[in-house]
Amino acid sequence: MDRLLIQAPSGAYHLHFGPGIWAELGELARSFDGVVVVSDQNVAALYAHRLPFPLCVLEPGEGTKSFDQVARLVDQWAELELSRYSLVVALGGGVIGDLVGFTASLFRRGISYVQVPTTLVAQVDSSVGGKTGINTPRGKNLVGAFYQPKGVFIDPAVLKTLPRREITNGLGEVLKYGVIQDGALFELVSRSIPAFYQVALDVVGPVIRRCVEIKGAIVAADETDWGLRRILNHGHTFGHALEQATGYRVYRHGEAVLLGMFLEARLAHYLGLLPAASLREIEAALLRVQLEYRFDQVDKQTLLRALGQDKKNRAGAISFILPREIGKVEEVLLSAAEVEKFWDEVMGA
Ligand SMILES: NC(=O)c1ccc[n+]([C@@H]2O[C@H](COP(=O)([O-])OP(=O)(O)OC[C@H]3O[C@@H](n4cnc5c(N)ncnc54)[C@H](O)[C@@H]3O)[C@@H](O)[C@H]2O)c1
Ligand SMILES: [Zn+2]
Repeated sequence: MDRLLIQAPSGAYHLHFGPGIWAELGELARSFDGVVVVSDQNVAALYAHRLPFPLCVLEPGEGTKSFDQVARLVDQWAELELSRYSLVVALGGGVIGDLVGFTASLFRRGISYVQVPTTLVAQVDSSVGGKTGINTPRGKNLVGAFYQPKGVFIDPAVLKTLPRREITNGLGEVLKYGVIQDGALFELVSRSIPAFYQVALDVVGPVIRRCVEIKGAIVAADETDWGLRRILNHGHTFGHALEQATGYRVYRHGEAVLLGMFLEARLAHYLGLLPAASLREIEAALLRVQLEYRFDQVDKQTLLRALGQDKKNRAGAISFILPREIGKVEEVLLSAAEVEKFWDEVMGA
């Protein structure tokens, strides 16, 4: 069985890869005093039978990451008489992973949980790193906790049933890992975009493994988001602003990150950081992804307002993680006026 050790300061755990994870997880679960699987309706219908334990099924969608659903899960777990020595299995995408991890951190002051991520986003990003949380009407991920799982079980074959748009959504984060840390990974993924839409496991499997290796190392060095972990925000300054400026209704998060990477690569080139040849490579990769967009529909003032509210901003400046080359990034702080000048000169034309 293929494994990778993640050393988070608050505890070490393994990532397990491949078709054998279901049997392995079944075995692990039997060593706990009680088990429950939590999933959403789509994923439960396809995969819950592989884990024969009591099951809580929730509605799919971002709305499920709420205090209401935390309360509902706590009720159901108490009803099932789960103790501090029981195990909760989060079977699903990032919505289920974030909600279940957060609820596990609260139930009986903290109960063990494992992640079985079933979307590309969850397999390369949300299941690793221990960030958990929910939304409130006042903000996305406004409430949460750092709470590491006891293990992450990744079977890339489940991506075969994923809608195409969810592949695009995941490709944003996959390409991001290449730009921030690994030029060879970027090149491989850039050449293999169709293999992702076909879920060709010989390509997708090793790429997922490399992505979590990169994220695992970053998270081990910086569990709570103050130093190195910031580089994971490449593409996210413009990406978040686009999501916010369009009321979270137009783009999935990973789509906004793809557009954010496109804009931030242009910004890096504009500032003289990124050579033209690298910019062209990044643009070419992003154009191969199935994503429709028109920047001329973006209202500049709304976007600038959203940038001004970014949680990474410091001392009145907007923080960007910009590439110097493919595989290497650095933080650059810019004033709103500087960003506006870039937008007018490069995007406004
Ligand atoms: N904790 C973190 O570090 C972190 C990182 C990135 C994203 N997130 C969070 O993750 C959430 C988004 O997660 P997501 O993109 O995985 O979306 P999601 O969990 O909403 O899943 C997307 C859709 O795919 C369906 N689905 C999942 N797996 C499937 C499969 N194998 N086959 C068929 N359908 C399947 C789901 O039912 C859902 O309809 C957001 O709430 C975001 O805030 C968290
Ligand atoms: Zn992201």
